[in-house]
Amino acid sequence: MIIFQNISKTYQIGDEKVHALSHANIHIYREEFVSIIGPSGSGKSTMMNIMGCLDTPDEGQYILDGQPIEHCTESDLARIRSRKIGFIFQSFHLIGNMSAEENVELPLIYQKLSARERKERVKESLNKVGLYKRRRHKPSQLSGGQQQRVAIARAMAQGPSLYLADEPTGNLDSNTGYQIMNLFHELHEQGNTIVLITHDESVASQAERSIRMKDGDAKEVMV
Ligand SMILES: Nc1ncnc2c1ncn2[C@@H]1O[C@H](COP(=O)(O)OP(=O)(O)OP(=O)(O)O)[C@@H](O)[C@H]1O
Ligand SMILES: [Mg+2]
Repeated sequence: MIIFQNISKTYQIGDEKVHALSHANIHIYREEFVSIIGPSGSGKSTMMNIMGCLDTPDEGQYILDGQPIEHCTESDLARIRSRKIGFIFQSFHLIGNMSAEENVELPLIYQKLSARERKERVKESLNKVGLYKRRRHKPSQLSGGQQQRVAIARAMAQGPSLYLADEPTGNLDSNTGYQIMNLFHELHEQGNTIVLITHDESVASQAERSIRMKDGDAKEVMV
């Protein structure tokens, strides 16, 4: 599903170069549940941004679902992101002045689905995360764990087969984090591919396999 061949990414700030990724090689198979663990600044989010076609490497080749992405245009990448990939972030990235159901519906409008299809998907995905009865609540009226469940419902509603989660439990207490991890386990059991970034060893070890990052290098570790 995901192949990184010698991928490097360097950021330049003034005169200083930061090698966020240097010659990373990774292989993630379809229907795997993989965690990416490593210290702050080791390149985890940079790697996820490239996996999610939000950013492109300076060097090396990224192959997603058999397709090399290097010749894709910005609109090709936008299409890949909206059809194939569900994103979940540490800080939820919900729109504050929209209700839960409007947040879940918004990307479906960009997918040009009919109003009826959108309503069905919103209902189904909010039901799956146990928040349909809170559908009219705004993010500020929901707990952190509930906001993250809305964000997961928003990703699910788009029907991706790959879920990329960057520290999804990072802002949550351990009990709430546990509920969120259960949703990822369910998505995995349904045949989706899950890539989850974390600092937390106990979260990382719930995946089938961990990729350990160190200074922009990826070392695959069997857990
Ligand atoms: N847009 C950017 N511009 C400049 N430098 C960046 C940028 N994004 C990341 N970096 C640098 O690249 C390195 C890797 O950053 P990255 O965000 O991938 O780390 P991370 O492993 O996700 O860290 P954290 O656990 O703190 O989220 C860091 O040194 C960071 O400062
Ligand atoms: Mg990060």
